[in-house]
Amino acid sequence: MSTRTIRLADGTQVPAIGQGTWHMGEGQYTQQEEVRALQHGIDLGMTLVDTAEMYASGGAERVVAEAIKGRRDEVFLVSKVLPHNAGAKQAVRACEQSLKRLGTDTLDLYLLHWRGGEDLADTLDAFETLLEQGKIKRFGVSNFDTEDIEELYAMQGGKDCATNQVLYNLGVRGIEYDLLPLHRHRRLPTMAYCPLAQGGQASQRLLANETVTALAREHNVTPTQLLLAWTIRPIDGQRDVIAIPKAVQTEHIEQNAKALEIEFNEDDLKRLDEAFPPPAHKQPLAII
Ligand SMILES: NC(=O)c1ccc[n+]([C@@H]2O[C@H](COP(=O)([O-])OP(=O)(O)OC[C@H]3O[C@@H](n4cnc5c(N)ncnc54)[C@H](OP(=O)(O)O)[C@@H]3O)[C@@H](O)[C@H]2O)c1
Repeated sequence: MSTRTIRLADGTQVPAIGQGTWHMGEGQYTQQEEVRALQHGIDLGMTLVDTAEMYASGGAERVVAEAIKGRRDEVFLVSKVLPHNAGAKQAVRACEQSLKRLGTDTLDLYLLHWRGGEDLADTLDAFETLLEQGKIKRFGVSNFDTEDIEELYAMQGGKDCATNQVLYNLGVRGIEYDLLPLHRHRRLPTMAYCPLAQGGQASQRLLANETVTALAREHNVTPTQLLLAWTIRPIDGQRDVIAIPKAVQTEHIEQNAKALEIEFNEDDLKRLDEAFPPPAHKQPLAII
């Protein structure tokens, strides 16, 4: 098992591949299967677990609670507040409810799920209160495009943001044009959601691509592992992207954990750039 990690601004190291939980708690799998999946992933080093109050209306947080029972200290726990709950008082209450569902008294990271209509200053106030009360250790944002990040950084306390969680995979590279460079300028690690383009049918365009399948064969890995390894590859020699694939099937979890070990050479990356070119101009942030 590899120990490849990403360093947050406060020096904390988190694994470059964590685990997502969207659609857990919805009945696609049994709760026991989902709990076991997360536990297996934690055993394999994918100790960052991403959830949200939105997922299954709190159901995913309850699955996570079962998975981390008795081993909370091993996990870097991330949850998110919905924009309509992100007012100064409401966000504190929403966080307390997430903590209760998760069976813990603190979150390692609490994100504003997307910008929404609430006053960002009010949300930052709530994050400040939660930090002071020890209910969260860090805060961050999600689905923020460049102008949102600039606005955040101009605000009191905004520079303490720990990450921006955004859609990023080989088929959706828009952030490389301006958002990723801005993150780097601000020393803000990127958290990539849907790194597998949601798997299954949705990701066929990527998984069936000739270059992807040929390279996967050459590296003796699956196309999905290749996608995952590409998402967390070093860019200009710097590794600061964390991927949070969601997986319940055992072989998926094991493949994802192994993807940490894949190294690309320059020629591999060039071939992937030819098949899926990086953006040549600004693209609005893609959101799911
Ligand atoms: N901030 C936001 O707005 C936002 C939006 C979307 C997602 N997210 C977060 O990001 C996480 C990841 O995104 P996502 O769940 O939408 O999509 P994803 O991780 O790209 O894809 C998940 C799908 O891929 C399958 N899969 C996983 N590993 C695989 C493997 N090795 N081989 C083949 N298939 C594999 C899973 O199947 P099985 O489950 O059957 O194993 C599942 O159907 C979410 O769970 C959530 O935590 C955040």
